[in-house]
Amino acid sequence: MRNSVIMLVCLLTTFSVLHFPQLAASRYSNYTFPDNFMFGVASAAFQIEGGWNAGGRGESVWDTYLHEHPDFTADNSNGDIAADSYNKYKQDVIMVESLGVKYYRLSISWSRILPRGTDNYVNKEGVNYYRSLFKELLKANITPVVTLFHFDLPTPFMDLGGWTNPVMVDYFEDYARIVFTLFGDLVKLWNTINEPHVYCLHGYGSDYFVPVLNFPGIADYLCSHYLLLGHSRVYHLYDKHFRPHQKGKIFLTCEAFYAEPKDKNNITDVEAAERVLQLRLGLYAHPVFSENGDYPETVRKRINELSIIQGYKRSRLPVFTQEEIKLLKGSSDFFGINHYTSALMSSCPMQENWPVPSIDHDLGVFMETDPSWPIYASDWLAVYPPGFRKLLSWITKNYGTKIPIIVTENGMSDYGGINDYNRVSYFNEYLEQLLLAIYEDGCNVIGYFAWSLMDDFEWRDGYSVKFGLFHVDFDSPERSRTPKLSAINFREIVRTKRINFDYLKRPE
Ligand code: NOJ
Repeated sequence: MRNSVIMLVCLLTTFSVLHFPQLAASRYSNYTFPDNFMFGVASAAFQIEGGWNAGGRGESVWDTYLHEHPDFTADNSNGDIAADSYNKYKQDVIMVESLGVKYYRLSISWSRILPRGTDNYVNKEGVNYYRSLFKELLKANITPVVTLFHFDLPTPFMDLGGWTNPVMVDYFEDYARIVFTLFGDLVKLWNTINEPHVYCLHGYGSDYFVPVLNFPGIADYLCSHYLLLGHSRVYHLYDKHFRPHQKGKIFLTCEAFYAEPKDKNNITDVEAAERVLQLRLGLYAHPVFSENGDYPETVRKRINELSIIQGYKRSRLPVFTQEEIKLLKGSSDFFGINHYTSALMSSCPMQENWPVPSIDHDLGVFMETDPSWPIYASDWLAVYPPGFRKLLSWITKNYGTKIPIIVTENGMSDYGGINDYNRVSYFNEYLEQLLLAIYEDGCNVIGYFAWSLMDDFEWRDGYSVKFGLFHVDFDSPERSRTPKLSAINFREIVRTKRINFDYLKRPE
């Protein structure tokens, strides 16, 4: 293992020195990353592990749905083998180590630990897999940051309506208790839930993501509500029963693109942009990070009013009890945020393709991207680095600096290949905006995780787009991994704590 890391590091170094001699007059970022800044890379179980039925694993909704609907993904693919991290996890650890980062954010497949979803049967082989992986990471001096729920709900729960059913809060707590008990000696940083908004909007409010519930304006809010309560329940479980002896931290990760008014001088566009940030991010962040707790008042008012106009007897947005509000408030040790892109907002009461009710209709905002922002693969991912700084400032303005922010994902997709100059620029430019957010806007950002460690299964897009720092050859049975230029560049940033914009330049 040691030898493999040394070889990989040598390979990365030799490659960069031979092919990319440092230019005499390199342009550097004005600021450097603080000494204790947490640099890491991220992945998620379903996207890399494969081994879908290996070692006693149960099915998640993504397994079941893709087996029944092979054409759901862009390339008719599924997660059966993915990057085969179930078998290749030692290589993954070597890759993380070669980047010089000290943190690796990954998720546990709930179905690998509890094949039926419920805690009356624990799968020993699944437990052994994660224990070996965590030990391997710790041996390499890498701290695991472990997400409990990253989109892959055990299939049996769909018969109960998945996260629209309040009983999921109990089952999530049962699962978390097992996981804290079995791994808490090795894992000290826990991420409860990844991107509740994306999960609920796409999987419950539309047919874009599994479980394809497609019950807009209702199931998406129920899902959000119970995920938040699940988060809070698990936070307090850890806080009360595990933290005292395990001494770890636990937090929630939200997602947000930055919503920029299309015309900054047009008040309705400015209001539209704010509405989007409050509904897409505030809906989850306000109950947890604001002083008063609960859903943002403006969001509550808008959905209540529209619900009544639409003939509902009560708001489509569920209501927290006073006790729930109290328990949710402050229930996260960090502010986890995933950020990729930005969009331009203008006010627009209705569009032909918006169902009524729906989150789109509740928002009443037309979204588009600026044609000058490049899109390299995923159609939703337009590159606009200043949006990152603006988002971090928005978070700071709304929720203060007391709770440190960790960027748990940031990255971009292309169509593959190891000479990924666009990704090199993306990371350089987004990281520069992060430095500006820290040093010029006073944002308390303490960590950054690049998405993703390697090419993986990108949900609806299958393997057609790539996010990795490492290329994975999905045609080879070995799923061989090769560092891309972005890996070399990221390693240099981590090593020097500074961005050298000329370190890897596209040949003229
Ligand atoms: C965020 C999600 O957490 C991750 O699973 C996904 O691959 C990336 N966005 C890119 O779409």
